Amino acid sequence: MSKSYLPLLLNALQDAVYVLDEDRAVLFANPAALAMFGGDPIGMDFVKISRHPDCIGAIGEILSGAKTTKQVVTEDALSGASYRVIVADLGHDNEDGARVVVSMTDVSDLREAEQMRSDFVANVSHELRSPLTAVSGFIETLQDESAVDPQQRQHFLSVMEMEAQRMVRLIADLLSLSKVESQQRMRPEGEADIGAIIARITTTLADSAEREGKQFELKLTTDMPPVPGSEDELTQVLQNLIENAIKYGRRDTTVTIETRLMDTVPGINGPALVIDVKDEGEGIAQRHIPRLTERFYRVDTHRSRNKGGTGLGLAIVKHIVHRHRGRLQISSKQDAGSCFSVSLPTTRPGR
Ligand SMILES: Nc1ncnc2c1ncn2[C@@H]1O[C@H](COP(=O)(O)OP(=O)(O)OP(=O)(O)O)[C@@H](O)[C@H]1O
Ligand SMILES: [Mg+2]
Repeated sequence: MSKSYLPLLLNALQDAVYVLDEDRAVLFANPAALAMFGGDPIGMDFVKISRHPDCIGAIGEILSGAKTTKQVVTEDALSGASYRVIVADLGHDNEDGARVVVSMTDVSDLREAEQMRSDFVANVSHELRSPLTAVSGFIETLQDESAVDPQQRQHFLSVMEMEAQRMVRLIADLLSLSKVESQQRMRPEGEADIGAIIARITTTLADSAEREGKQFELKLTTDMPPVPGSEDELTQVLQNLIENAIKYGRRDTTVTIETRLMDTVPGINGPALVIDVKDEGEGIAQRHIPRLTERFYRVDTHRSRNKGGTGLGLAIVKHIVHRHRGRLQISSKQDAGSCFSVSLPTTRPGR
């Protein structure tokens, strides 16, 4: 077998590969290793490349005769990067004194994804546990008929109903989020009439807006072109934003929905339809704004929960807007109110 391609193969690898002699000094490093180290490591003790005890320990074991390949995961304390490190024996009879090969794969992204997944599971469990604990508590109380009068019973039942509805909403939002996430890369099909969507939502939400002391003001362009995209998903986006404006606006104020046609919007190719949803609420402090679209992020957890929020609304909005190649911008002034602005391309991307 010809081995003349081996140097080319090592050059092509994304993993950093180091060959060490019996003193742990570097004899060879491929381009990925040079890039990772950021200099020329030839002749250096490997400890200058990674001083992680598990990694140095694995090299030591191979140098002192262990024949089985070692695998460890290390974390670079300075950069926070994680590497999967494989250390293998190269035998004793190499002319150049090569004894050990160390290959390092950057697994930081994987680690981060793993961390996000486990945070997500912890969050979901927590969100479900609170209403479940409340419901089980009330069931226990209601089982002792002599302990509750009919009025109390009614109160407990209505709290149980509210908590059960919250769980149903949470599950529905989770399913909806996972659906839009899985379709993130697919272009949405169809066409949506934003004017009709706004009319439908404001009619449906009229009662709850009135109960909360809000009135709608619509400032819609008359010549709104249809927007390429999913009518259902864009309804979800606007419904979330309008519901938030109702929820977080002050009593006896106006929720304004305004649309504009723009020739250019930063970040969008071609003309766009901009939809602003404005409230006259207490506003959102600047430091919270970049985090609002994270799952389960709430400015005031207690207050949002009391209002029946799951904290997933804006995460869903962000994903749907991205899938439509649009932009979501949030601006807010404390004590004055917030404006959530969605820009959607009016021409199908790529055509
Ligand atoms: N118009 C607004 N004014 C002030 N704060 C807002 C506004 N919209 C959203 N927020 C803040 O952002 C947080 C996240 O909003 P999001 O819509 O994701 O969740 P939610 O409204 O709590 O629950 P959900 O929409 O899932 O029922 C809210 O909890 C609230 O703190
Ligand atoms: Mg919401």
